[in-house]
Amino acid sequence: YVVDKGNHRHFMEKEIYEQPEVISHALSHYMNFAENTIGSNASEIDFKSVSGLAISACGTAYLAGLIGKYWFERYARLPVEIDVASEFRYREMPLQPSQAALFISQSGETADTLASLRYCKDNGLKIGAVVNVQESTIARESDAVFPIMAGPEIGVASTKAFTCQLAVLASLAIGAGKARGTVSADEEKGLVRQLAEMPRIMSRVLNLVQPQMESLSRELSKCRDVLYLGRGTSFPLAMEGALKLKEISYIHAEGYAAGELKHGPIALIDENMPVIVIAPYDRFFEKTVSNMQEVAARGGRIIFITDEAGAAASKLPTLATIALPNVPEIIAPMIFSLPIQLLAYHTAVFMGTDVDQPRNLAKSVTVE
Ligand code: G6P
Repeated sequence: YVVDKGNHRHFMEKEIYEQPEVISHALSHYMNFAENTIGSNASEIDFKSVSGLAISACGTAYLAGLIGKYWFERYARLPVEIDVASEFRYREMPLQPSQAALFISQSGETADTLASLRYCKDNGLKIGAVVNVQESTIARESDAVFPIMAGPEIGVASTKAFTCQLAVLASLAIGAGKARGTVSADEEKGLVRQLAEMPRIMSRVLNLVQPQMESLSRELSKCRDVLYLGRGTSFPLAMEGALKLKEISYIHAEGYAAGELKHGPIALIDENMPVIVIAPYDRFFEKTVSNMQEVAARGGRIIFITDEAGAAASKLPTLATIALPNVPEIIAPMIFSLPIQLLAYHTAVFMGTDVDQPRNLAKSVTVE
């Protein structure tokens, strides 16, 4: 694996465009495409017998875990306890040896995540690690290692590791559902087929949205604050969008659950703060659109990241509408990550920041 930028200006750009390829590696590690089933690599934890799942991680990996929570609860009916590792390790939460614990870490070396792992181990839980670096400390100290197969990630702002973490978590959640009898053989086949389509759709989406994201970045670069909104799995994605933008462009950004808008951030809405609404045409769509209406009514400028069905269904005026292809719900978080990454990337490039090595940040944080 040669680690250079190839034809790209930055590692981050290269890593964004590598996603279709690395995601397909990740998926083929966990799935049997000949039979459209989840394979044995996803069942190194016996999810059938666990009473609950505790997840701990930091930064982008934590946000991947939050999306994973929706999947484990929905597909495997497994209650999930999740927290950032720096809180998890000190919460003194009661844990049962019947629970399993998952630690998500690109580097496998993050100090707080490792401390959470050791806390769970001391409590007798079965330990799983979703890691990129398979020789890492977190991988070594775990009972089961679930590699994300992303290849080396150099850009400090995580991109391909995030979507590969999601692909692995989706596979594990479906596998857990199969083991627990909450996902039928037919559902499993359907979901695996939908995931198998993802690399192809990702390539298409990257080409489709790039020009629009580049031109929008000029608009964003003038702003001091940006608000991202989403519901369901789009809520953690809103937080990831905000995190990516602040990390590399230094623009203040916040990700909020769309339903929480009226409990605070609505006070900030004016024509100077763009609101990026992430809303595939899913079962939450109408609810999110009514939040968007509250933004529009106060003169807020909306960047609407949706799909073709969503674009057709909403008549609200927007600064820009990004209409992705309609995709199945299980792959939407990975597909919708792409415009979010590109928007942050192009904004940072436009502003001239050090995209791959943003100030004050480190790729791997091995101290508390
Ligand atoms: C640092 C990096 C982030 C990363 C986080 C967790 O803050 O800058 O990109 O998400 O650490 O790192 P890990 O290696 O545990 O995923």
